[in-house]
Amino acid sequence: MNVLLIGSGGREHALAWSLSASPIISKLYCAPGNPGIAAVAECVAIAAGDLDGLVAFAKEKKVAFVVIGPEAPLVAGLADRLEAAGIKALGPSAKGAMLEGSKGFMKDLCAEHDIPTAAYRRFRDSARAKFFSDTLPLPVVIKADGLAAGKGVIIAETRADAHKAVDSMFDGAFGTAGAEVVVEEFLDGEEASFFALTDGKHVLPMIGAQDHKRAFDGDQGPNTGGMGAYSPAPVLTDAVAEKTMSRILMPTVAAMAERGTPYMGVLYAGLMIKNGEPKLIEYNCRFGDPECQVLAMRLKSDLATALLAARDGMLGAIDLRWHDDAALTVVMAAKGYPGEYEKGSEIRGLDEAAKKNGVQIFQAGTTRRDGKLLAAGGRVLNVTATGTTVAEARQRAYAAVDVVDWPQGFCRRDIGWRAIARG
Ligand code: AMP
Ligand code: GLY
Repeated sequence: MNVLLIGSGGREHALAWSLSASPIISKLYCAPGNPGIAAVAECVAIAAGDLDGLVAFAKEKKVAFVVIGPEAPLVAGLADRLEAAGIKALGPSAKGAMLEGSKGFMKDLCAEHDIPTAAYRRFRDSARAKFFSDTLPLPVVIKADGLAAGKGVIIAETRADAHKAVDSMFDGAFGTAGAEVVVEEFLDGEEASFFALTDGKHVLPMIGAQDHKRAFDGDQGPNTGGMGAYSPAPVLTDAVAEKTMSRILMPTVAAMAERGTPYMGVLYAGLMIKNGEPKLIEYNCRFGDPECQVLAMRLKSDLATALLAARDGMLGAIDLRWHDDAALTVVMAAKGYPGEYEKGSEIRGLDEAAKKNGVQIFQAGTTRRDGKLLAAGGRVLNVTATGTTVAEARQRAYAAVDVVDWPQGFCRRDIGWRAIARG
């Protein structure tokens, strides 16, 4: 079977690495891919947002199955376009992807079905939004309704900051994503990411992970797309996973089917857990990045078979197996990220670093020019390792990080601290 993977980040490198080992795939393409992905798939220079180009390419190359990595093409309707052309696609329809594409939509669905989440209201008017924010305890959370590349959430510590956040959103700080604003209660607790696969009816739990969203050690500094991740996450006990399935994921999938817009694909629940009780912070309609990198390292079963079963409504017949070993990934980013940073610096020593015990290096923002590997984005490398414990995986990952020769990069040195502190 010919398979096309969409995307170009570390998540897609991990997916490509897993898919390329599948006995059911004869040819793996990736659009647009990156130099790391090029080692396991044939990269084609079509942007993830070029829906026409992707559909045309899939038809021309007789692609039977397309795996869509990032959220933007899903929200834009790529899965619908491919399916209409007779090509199977993994990932929800545009209507299904609303679970990530509109925070207000997701919150209303939770309210209707008693799914535990923060108290909230939706607004199209700044005065009313500010008035409601004044009724909630501080800090208060202000969110742009639409996709904002992970940046559309402001946690305001003062009333004035909350008002400023509301104004900035209605003034277009996040473009059309902020035409509607969600004001919600702040949840405290420990965050974790829980992943499931669904075919619209069956919900197959995967495993959980934790990432580190802040840029600097000690969870300080600005929010990023994620500076590192590990799995398993000790806070996600079997009891918490069970509650997440029965109170959050299963009612959501049932509600989407009931509405006539069944949800198929990866469902990623961002959770806040306090005293063993999970609440939903947000849904994503795709794998997490960098959480996917640690999931891929722990997956024993064939990924392609599981994803195809989700597309075909056959998840009831699938049983996923995972390695007991832990996995941990350290993101190496360009200095300055998530603010301004330079592109084009050379990265050396990757091959040597990748030879370290238990290590796999996934590339995210890289490019190749004149035989040299260059940084081409904010998050550039994901140095990933397995070990019998999170502590061992971390020690191995940093041993490899120390061999990477890239003075223009930086990373956090404390990935996994929560899991390690718990012993
Ligand atoms: P999101 O883009 O929805 O993932 O939000 C980004 C981050 O903001 C989350 O990972 C949380 O750390 C934080 N966050 C969002 N909503 C809340 C909330 N209601 N309470 C506390 N933290 C939140
Ligand atoms: N690592 C967080 C995300 O993928 O949304």
